[in-house]
Amino acid sequence: MFKFNFDVEDDTEQIPDSLDVNRTSQNHGPTSAQVVVPDAFTELSLANALNSLPSKISFSPITIPLASGGELSLPRRDLFDARFQLISQNADDPDALEQPSISNARSALQFFDAPSDLVPLVYEGGLKTWECSLDLASYLDGIGSQFDVHGKRVLEIGCGTSIPSLYILHRIFSSPPSQNQTHIHLQDYNASVLELVTIPNIILTWYLSEAAETYRKSEEEHADHSPLELNISENLKDAFHQSLTTYGVHLRFFSGSWGTFSLESSGGSYNLVLTSETIYRMESLPSLATIMRGACNAEGPKGVDDYLCLVAAKVLYFGVGGGVAEFVRCVRDLDNGGTVETVWEKTQGVERRVMSVKWN
Ligand SMILES: C[S@@+](CC[C@H](N)C(=O)[O-])C[C@H]1O[C@@H](n2cnc3c(N)ncnc32)[C@H](O)[C@@H]1O
Repeated sequence: MFKFNFDVEDDTEQIPDSLDVNRTSQNHGPTSAQVVVPDAFTELSLANALNSLPSKISFSPITIPLASGGELSLPRRDLFDARFQLISQNADDPDALEQPSISNARSALQFFDAPSDLVPLVYEGGLKTWECSLDLASYLDGIGSQFDVHGKRVLEIGCGTSIPSLYILHRIFSSPPSQNQTHIHLQDYNASVLELVTIPNIILTWYLSEAAETYRKSEEEHADHSPLELNISENLKDAFHQSLTTYGVHLRFFSGSWGTFSLESSGGSYNLVLTSETIYRMESLPSLATIMRGACNAEGPKGVDDYLCLVAAKVLYFGVGGGVAEFVRCVRDLDNGGTVETVWEKTQGVERRVMSVKWN
């Protein structure tokens, strides 16, 4: 087991200040003798995930320092609340754990108690918010005027709590509705992470945005809960879906290992490809770089200016083997690889970067 520390000023208690990578069954991972079959590419239904939520969820704000100045507060579902959902589902319907959409529920429950542990190809850390995801959101804020996301196709790879995508959705839901259709696709290894954290965070972000103002005011009149709770009612789901239509936002969710990701099924290439804290493991770098390259349509007719491919990461992931140097090498050595440019960096304490990848 490897352990390394981050110098996070943690006032939320939800950003991990240490990371364990388990390679044994000491906690909940497979033994070295066991062969792990990676989870296969699967699309999750937004409607099913919303229907599986309890009647009320709780959340806490997370603060993002913005490159353009000031701060932005985004809501994140509380982990204890997601954990409670899993326990309740288990108690209400033990068979539910065997259903495909929550087939990882059993493992997910185990990881709520140690959410910063990584078990390769079992649980990859998506329940927690990792600090570079805030860097990426902040960077997106800084380039806002140069890259209009309206009408674009966006993919966040290894999204977890999906802070960069939440930032983008916050911007969309705070602007006037657009005629352009914007496609935001989120990928995480674990279906449970998408169901329990990613999707609730998206509906929370919408609920606190200008797009939901009318609904929010009517809801607040009858509020029977704290300001940090949200009633998941049929009215809320209808209003959310209505806003998605009004703002031209199309959301899709994909789970499974990077090696199984199907661009054909996801509808082809993207204009904006984002990922944060995903380059920590050497073994996964080629499949990550391959999915990024394909997602940027590097083999297609478009030129390099048709996409933006951004990676936020720590420079070194001690003990695990990955990091910026390994990622840069992997991108360079890939068939028809590419080049990596640092577009933002923090050099004090634990070094962090935001990088832009251009494919050959
Ligand atoms: C440390 S978490 C980071 C989560 C989030 N991006 C953040 O910064 O808060 C790493 C994420 O990468 C994804 N991931 C890691 N290895 C993967 C693999 N081999 N296949 C698919 N997804 C993987 C997982 O979905 C996980 O959520």
